[in-house]
Amino acid sequence: MLIQAILAERFKQAVASLGVVDAPIPISKSTRPEFGEYQFNGAMALAKALKKKPRDIAQDIVEAVDVSDIASKLEIAGPGFINVHLSDVWLAEHIDATQKDARLGVAQLQAQKIVVDYSSPNLAKEMHVGHLRSTIIGDAVVKVLEFLGHDVIRQNHMGDWGTQFGMLLAHLSDKLGESQASTALSDLEDFYREAKVRFDTEDGFADRAREYVVKLQSGDPQCLALWEEFIDVSISHSEEVYQKLNVSLTRKDVMGESAYNPDLPVLVKDLLDREIAVVDQGATLVFLPEMADKEGKPAVYIIQKSGGGFLYATTDLAAIRYRCQKLKAQRTLIFTDARQALHFKQTELVARKANYMEQGHHYQHCPFGMMLGKDSKPFKTRTGGTIKLADLLDEAVQRAADLLSKRDVKDLENDNTHIAQTVGIGAVKYADLSKNRTTDYIFDWDTMLSFEGNTAPYLQYAYTRIRSIFRKADIDMLAQNAPVVLTNASEKALAVKLLQFEDTLHSAANEAAPHLLCTYLYELASLFMTFYEASPILKDGINKDTKGSRLSLAALSARTIKQSLDMLGIDTLEHM
Ligand code: ARG
Repeated sequence: MLIQAILAERFKQAVASLGVVDAPIPISKSTRPEFGEYQFNGAMALAKALKKKPRDIAQDIVEAVDVSDIASKLEIAGPGFINVHLSDVWLAEHIDATQKDARLGVAQLQAQKIVVDYSSPNLAKEMHVGHLRSTIIGDAVVKVLEFLGHDVIRQNHMGDWGTQFGMLLAHLSDKLGESQASTALSDLEDFYREAKVRFDTEDGFADRAREYVVKLQSGDPQCLALWEEFIDVSISHSEEVYQKLNVSLTRKDVMGESAYNPDLPVLVKDLLDREIAVVDQGATLVFLPEMADKEGKPAVYIIQKSGGGFLYATTDLAAIRYRCQKLKAQRTLIFTDARQALHFKQTELVARKANYMEQGHHYQHCPFGMMLGKDSKPFKTRTGGTIKLADLLDEAVQRAADLLSKRDVKDLENDNTHIAQTVGIGAVKYADLSKNRTTDYIFDWDTMLSFEGNTAPYLQYAYTRIRSIFRKADIDMLAQNAPVVLTNASEKALAVKLLQFEDTLHSAANEAAPHLLCTYLYELASLFMTFYEASPILKDGINKDTKGSRLSLAALSARTIKQSLDMLGIDTLEHM
């Protein structure tokens, strides 16, 4: 249920009855329990229109608003805030409906077709930590959108084309004399380095590399076959990482840059014919007066170089055309690091000039900040090299295993590697997902693997704790739906949080911001812990109805935690 929207509707009617129809209706969550659960903050802004003091307006609204079913108390505070205390009976009723619903009270929205472009590594090299953020943030947003009912098309816009492949293919063709492609390319990082050394130092190699580029671009079958072999091995490397990360991307989501090659000359011609692009000193470009510099000189967006080569930009325009016109997407989300913000802003501008997207199309570049080391510098190996994502994940599992052995954790059903994997990978993902997407963050093993604070292990632990309550009581948690009666503040706070699930998912989806879901989860788990301390469940002497009600709150908490972690691509455990 969407509590905020329900309250907004009621307050809107009240404000309208005072004679103001289009006033904004700001409803926010209260910051402290003594202020109730929600607050209406719109009275101050009405003072001018109604020529009255905000507190008097607040009084009029309190008298006019019809929330007798929802709220047990309204009170005016400060300059004219209206605090809303939700009614226990109303909350309990909605918790009962929610616990009987497989979707946990979240309505299925009318499906929108949404393209999500994420992960998109460059295949010339191995995936590195910079791709971690795009991959897991993108995947979490995809899963939230799908849960809400949208029709999501994943697009892995892999960098599988470009001049660097000339050097790589020349090197590969030499190596194939001795070994198979998969062996030669078992470590893409080493392979790239070797090729680069030859390119820089070996007589004649650079010329051969350039020949390969020409052959590749002209569609020479032998060269294309070699390229396909390279791409195939490189995609398998990415697939291994996706699997480790519990990310839903598969090969059928790959729509690499090369897929747009045939369309690039067509697109450039189209833009020239329609006089959106011009030829200037041999290059084809679009002037963007909308983005002029201080002297009024328009920004320049190049779509074809003077030598005839196409660019990253050309491909992105072709991608927009394909996604909007062929895939019929209504919204596009693209996850890359913040340094590409200008590129996407300009690309959108050009695409809109060319009507490649419909007016109402929502094109959203979702930038993210950098992952930093403890020294606040870009995260690197000790020797300053880039860290391979696969290695980082292996280290996470190893560290989790060490930690768990210290805590003497044993899984009765599975072997401990399973727990270490779930905790280790969960910790790395959650540490990233829980940070505000747009800011840089410091990667720190110790905090992310802690069982305290806003971490995956804390949430996983909260979940197993609830599972163990039900094991002890010998009750099927998933069938638990005894009616809820709210008898104390800890139960009420937990109930309110549980009912804010749908609001949270909507915000996370609209802002493409998984950290909003993480913050919610942390608050939910913390409120559960407080509730569990304050409201005994299995103690002798607890009456049957209270016990049933508390078990229901616990079960719904566990189901909500699990559902949320699922969307974040983080597993839960039965024991830990
Ligand atoms: N391959 C690019 C990179 O690694 C990201 C591509 C993002 N998507 C796009 N449509 N440009 O930075």
